[in-house]
Amino acid sequence: MTDEPLLSLRTFIEDVERIGELRHVHGAHWDLEIGGIAELSYRRPKPQALLFDDIVDYPSGHRLLVGSTGTSRRFGRTLRLGDDLDDFGLVEALRGKPSKWAAAARDFPVEVVERAPFHENVLEGNDANLLAFPVPRWHGHDGGRFIGTGCLVVTSDPETGVHNGGCYRMQVQDDGRATTIAAVPGKHGAQNIERWFAREGRAPVTVSFGHDPLLLALGGTEVPGGISELEYAGAVLGQRVPVVLGEETGLPIPAGTEIVVEGWLTPEESRVEGPFGEWTGYYAGSPRPTPNLRVNRIYYRDNPILLGAPPGKPPHDYSYMRTVMKSAMIQDELVSMGVPGVKSAWAHETGGGRLFIAVAIEQRYAGHARQVGYLAAQCPAAAYMNRYVVVVDEDIDVTDLGEVVWAMSTRSDPATDIEIMNRTWGSKLDPMLEPDQTPYNSRAVIDACRPWHRLKSFPRVAESDPAYLREVQQRWGQFLD
Ligand SMILES: Cc1cc2nc3c(=O)[nH]c(=O)nc-3n(C[C@H](O)[C@H](O)[C@H](O)COP(=O)(O)O)c2cc1C
Repeated sequence: MTDEPLLSLRTFIEDVERIGELRHVHGAHWDLEIGGIAELSYRRPKPQALLFDDIVDYPSGHRLLVGSTGTSRRFGRTLRLGDDLDDFGLVEALRGKPSKWAAAARDFPVEVVERAPFHENVLEGNDANLLAFPVPRWHGHDGGRFIGTGCLVVTSDPETGVHNGGCYRMQVQDDGRATTIAAVPGKHGAQNIERWFAREGRAPVTVSFGHDPLLLALGGTEVPGGISELEYAGAVLGQRVPVVLGEETGLPIPAGTEIVVEGWLTPEESRVEGPFGEWTGYYAGSPRPTPNLRVNRIYYRDNPILLGAPPGKPPHDYSYMRTVMKSAMIQDELVSMGVPGVKSAWAHETGGGRLFIAVAIEQRYAGHARQVGYLAAQCPAAAYMNRYVVVVDEDIDVTDLGEVVWAMSTRSDPATDIEIMNRTWGSKLDPMLEPDQTPYNSRAVIDACRPWHRLKSFPRVAESDPAYLREVQQRWGQFLD
């Protein structure tokens, strides 16, 4: 495909098809069936990306992609790090990059263009209805149909003009004539909206549905404040991102997108949204009034493709992506704080990439393991919603939960090796939060390293020398398949 704009979802789909990781699914229903197929797929060891077409009630060609970032090959391609890396290799390749990309973002200002493929079609007035697209009801107890999972919501800081791209759940409201945007207070997007409300009594937004999942990854990850995710994307690509400026708001819309809406939020216009099956694996957090965007005009490409990224009990659509991003960022932050001996970090998918983190170190001094545990639990990449940090010795594979649990079970003494922190940064989405409780949580650092003072005398691990096992494998492998 030659004339596709930068960050086109179609180019991504073509690439994924070429590496053999795309499945075409025809005839599924938007009401739960797409969500169910996706859920079963996420549980497979190497889930494919699924492109749904001929969706019940919708014209052929109105499509939806899920599972975009679910393997190291697809996510490596998304981050432009190559499509031949394994899980660990991808994290290694990513290490050091987020801070470089953040520093370089300002060198890649967006490039304004006049026309984009999404101008091919427009729905206006009474025809402007989001349910013209096959928006799924993802899970059985969701409060409605959520068009925003893999979306990019662009807002701006009214003082500096710097724009922000964030990924927030968006529930279709008013029979398709509007959509809520559920940015949690404190997120940059929510802060921008609040500032505009305070200053002008309204807040501009544009929303892109259907783009290269690089924008899902950046919109859905904690990019530092004051940096535009579109410029950050430019730094990742090494090229300025082409955008069209919204006619009503003047905010940028990536030219490569499939479907676009824009408009102004007001403090008076809200709807109760949710519940929604979330990344913790629960329907937690009570339905709450949320800013509601009335949709007056929708632009879209011929045969448009929505990008879906539904959360749920992990593994879910973007848990792998979050694990990779967080693992690299946590290790980077520990290293940049000057902590020695950090060998690897892994933010496990079972904890949604946030709740359960394992860090391996080469112990250098008494107290080293606790230092790493406390810092990992509170570094910016992990501070939100972490619950457990387990620090292990370097012989433990942090990506393997079995090894981590073995270390916890044999190298820690619960009476002395579990440190608790209270009143740390939690979330309304926490299923353990009591109703009406302030969203603090607590967290535990589990020191599962051999005690420093017994390092030399600690019982030897009962396994053969790896070099000897390789020899045995060569000689006797025929009996072991
Ligand atoms: C698919 C997906 C859905 C998300 N849904 C929400 C959401 O509904 N509300 C929210 O505040 N954050 C949500 N997040 C997390 C935010 O995107 C993430 O914290 C991001 O860093 C917020 O960006 P901001 O701080 O620039 O606003 C979601 C992330 C992903 C990947």
